[in-house]
Amino acid sequence: MASLPKTVRKAVFPVGGLGTRFLPATKAQPKEMLPVVDKPLIHYAVEEARAAGIEQFIFITGRGKTAIADHFDVSYELKHQMQGRGKESGAIEDWLPGPGQVCFTRQQEPLGLGHAVWCARHLVGDEPFAVLLADDLMLGEPACLKQMVDAYEHVGGNLVCVENVPPAFTSRYGILDIAEENGKLVRAKGIVEKPKPAQAPSTLGVVGRYILHPDIFGVLERVERGAGGEIQLTDGLSKMIGKVPFHGLRCDARRFDCGDKAGFVVANVAFALERDDMRDEVYEQLEALIDVHRPSRKAAS
Ligand code: G1P
Repeated sequence: MASLPKTVRKAVFPVGGLGTRFLPATKAQPKEMLPVVDKPLIHYAVEEARAAGIEQFIFITGRGKTAIADHFDVSYELKHQMQGRGKESGAIEDWLPGPGQVCFTRQQEPLGLGHAVWCARHLVGDEPFAVLLADDLMLGEPACLKQMVDAYEHVGGNLVCVENVPPAFTSRYGILDIAEENGKLVRAKGIVEKPKPAQAPSTLGVVGRYILHPDIFGVLERVERGAGGEIQLTDGLSKMIGKVPFHGLRCDARRFDCGDKAGFVVANVAFALERDDMRDEVYEQLEALIDVHRPSRKAAS
């Protein structure tokens, strides 16, 4: 096998999901545009990728997702109106990736995460690339994907971000079968998509951050439908074990599962508490709110 460049320059963002768990909020807007404080989820994922040195941002979209493309574009009208009123307009575009750095392709049918990633094959080509699932919002410094890129330079192959999940939750995640642990790095000998607790090989769950070897595309082409009737990225990774190295990395970051309503609400609170301009006010209001709800919680238990 020809040796690959170790630099990860491209990132794939699968954003074709329907977001039914957040209806009616997601009836007319993509779930990736739901805001945590004042930025959409997808904005955080792109920021994280940039902090990791990513130069090309590839979105796998679907019907009803045009708001994402608009978000990563200039907005002349808004800028013009704000400037006309003497308002600072940096928040609408100072952070935009440069011309040609963003591209979109459509996954015409929602056939699963593995299929979404496979749709990026021509845009990625023959080099390692990252995949970020915007539902998993990461709070950490250095950025979670940056920690992965640094580890990837040593291990290569396929690398996934992992964390221990409660035993009852294994059926929500890809779960690693651990061969060897070396500090934060785990060498895996297997991976299973959403096993029931009794069948789970461990409680080490995959968080939605991946650095993948481009051979995954050829493998995904042949993967059959798996868990949930979908073409699973997990099954593609499993087929590559023994051909390229496969590791999990426990990143120094807090993960918020924003595909889940409770996780999404808590993410909003956590990110507000991280902000110098909001912390005190939010903290005080939360304290008061907790006081109001404490008696009813006691009564319920
Ligand atoms: C996907 C993956 C799963 C991974 C999870 C992380 O599942 O299939 O292996 O653990 O993301 O969030 P989904 O949450 O899309 O069902």
